[in-house]
Amino acid sequence: MIDRRDSYWWKQAVFYQVYPRSFKDSNADGIGDLRGIQDKLDYFRELGVDALWISPFFKSPMKDFGYDISDYKDVDPIFGNLADFLSLLEAAHERGLRIVIDLVVNHSSDEHPWFKAARSSRTDPKHDWYLWKPKTGRRPPNNWISLFEQRSAWYPNEATGEWYLATFTRNQPEFNWRNPELREAIYDATRFWLDLGADGFRMDVATAYFKDAEFRSNPFSFNLVPNLLQHHIYDRNRPEIFGVFKDFRAIADSYGDRMLIGETHGLDPGLAASCHGSDDDGLHMAFNFDFLYRRWSARLFRESAERWYKLLPSRAWPNFTLSNHDQPRHYYRYRSGRHADERARVTATMLLCLRGTPFLYYGEEIGMNCEQLPRAYLRDPLGVATWPLRIGRDPERTPMQWDDTLNAGFSPVQPWLPVNTDYRRKNVATQKSDPASLWNWYAALLRLRKSQPALVTGTLTWLDAPPEVMAWRRSERRQSEGKQNLEVYLNFSGKPEAINISAGIVLQGTRLPPGQAVSAGRCVLGPYEVLIISQS
Ligand code: NOJ
Repeated sequence: MIDRRDSYWWKQAVFYQVYPRSFKDSNADGIGDLRGIQDKLDYFRELGVDALWISPFFKSPMKDFGYDISDYKDVDPIFGNLADFLSLLEAAHERGLRIVIDLVVNHSSDEHPWFKAARSSRTDPKHDWYLWKPKTGRRPPNNWISLFEQRSAWYPNEATGEWYLATFTRNQPEFNWRNPELREAIYDATRFWLDLGADGFRMDVATAYFKDAEFRSNPFSFNLVPNLLQHHIYDRNRPEIFGVFKDFRAIADSYGDRMLIGETHGLDPGLAASCHGSDDDGLHMAFNFDFLYRRWSARLFRESAERWYKLLPSRAWPNFTLSNHDQPRHYYRYRSGRHADERARVTATMLLCLRGTPFLYYGEEIGMNCEQLPRAYLRDPLGVATWPLRIGRDPERTPMQWDDTLNAGFSPVQPWLPVNTDYRRKNVATQKSDPASLWNWYAALLRLRKSQPALVTGTLTWLDAPPEVMAWRRSERRQSEGKQNLEVYLNFSGKPEAINISAGIVLQGTRLPPGQAVSAGRCVLGPYEVLIISQS
C-alpha cells in the first residue's frame, strides 16, 4: 500500500520566509507589501524554492509589526487588501509555488474588537476570551514576565479592576484557550484562510497557548539572559496544547494537503519533537530552531542534527533552518573576517543536503548581513526596551537588497528600516550575473535537489570524518534507476583536512568542478571546502 504521507509536498519543498515589510515595496511608501511579493514571484522560481512562508500581513496596529492582530480576516492596508492576497495566491499557484501564512493566536492586539469588548466589563461575553486576575493591590499575581518589555507580564485594566496577561508587549493580550467560544472563533479564522486557498500555517508561539490553570509562578533558573531567569513551565509548554494541535490537524487535513508548522519553541528540541503527536496526529512539522543557537563547529551541527533525528517520532519529518526574523542572520553569526562567504556556502550546503525540509530566510541567498543600527533607527519593541545591552531584531529585518540603485531597489522612498550599507556591492542583480556568487551557489544546490531525489527523500548515514568535517551519505533506491548514493563533505575548518572518500563524480563543489571523477581513498579538503559526489 502506498503511504500517502510520503508524498506530502512539504516534505519535498524548500521554503523561503518572506518578511513582507522588507521584501519589495510596490506603492512607494517605504514598506514592502503583497503586490511587491507578487512582482517578485518569478524570482522564487529562478532561485528554485517551492514554497513561501509570509510573516503576518493582517490588520494590525503594528506594535509588534504584525504579530499583534486586530482583525484575523483582513489584510492591513499597509500591505494591500484581500484581493491582493488572492491575486498573489493565484499567481503563485500558477507557478507551482505554495504559500503558507502566519497564524498568530496566542494573543491578539489590544485593539482587536474582542479585547476592547473583553476589557469593558467582567460580564461582557468576550471577557473570558482573555486571561484575567483580580487586582487587589500593586503586586502582580505571579512572576511571569513580558519578554519584550522586560517587566511583569500583568497589566492593570481599570474598567474591571483586574490584571490582564501579556507575555510579549502590553499590546498583545493573551487568549484564554480554555474558553470553547474563543477556540471556535480561532478555528473559524483558520478555515477562512484555508477556504481562500492558503497552503497552510506557521503557528506563532504555538506551545504558549495554554497557561497553568492555577497561574503558578515559574521557578527560578540561573541564567545571564533575562528572559531565561525563570523556567517557563507554567506560562508555556502546558500539556493541554496537544488536544488543540489535534483540532488544528483535523481542520487542516479536512482540506487535503495543507500544512501546519509550529513555532514550538526554541530551546527544547524534545518539546518541539513531541508536537508532532504520538500517532502523527499533531502538527505536520515543528520548527527545529537548534541550528539558530549553534556555534560554528562541524561536531556541534552534527550532534544537533543527530539529536533531532533521534527525538522525532517515527512518522514525523525533520526540518532545519539557520535564520529567521527573530535572530541575527547566520551570515553575521558565522562571519569570520574574509571567510564569511565561504562559511555561507558550507552552511547553505548543510541546510539543503541534510534530510529534512529546509527553511531559508529572505536575503540569505546573497549573504545579507546584520549591521549595528543607531538607537534612533530602532523599531522593534524588544530592541527599544533592551538597547544598548541588546539591539533587538531590526538588523535581521532590513530591506531586501535587489540591486545597486537607490535603496537597493527595494523602494523609491526612504525605507522603514535603513538598507544595509553594503548593498551596492551585495545585491541580487550583481550576484545573479556572477557565476561564482553565493546566489548562484544556492541556485545550483536547489537545482541539484531537484535532479537528485536522494537529497530530498533519501536516507541519511553519517560518515567518519575528522572533528571539523561534517560528512554524510544520502541513499535512495528507485525501482527504475536502482540505488542512488550521494556523499556530502563539508570542511568547517580554515585549514586543510584529510578525509577518505569513495569513488564518484563531483556533483557540486567549491574547488572541484561538476563532472570530475574522483577516485577512492585519501583526499585533502581545502579550508571551508564543500564537496558533493555521486556514486550512482
Ligand atoms: C514569535 C514571532 O516570531 C515574533 O516575531 C513575535 O514577536 C512573537 N512571536 C510574538 O508574536
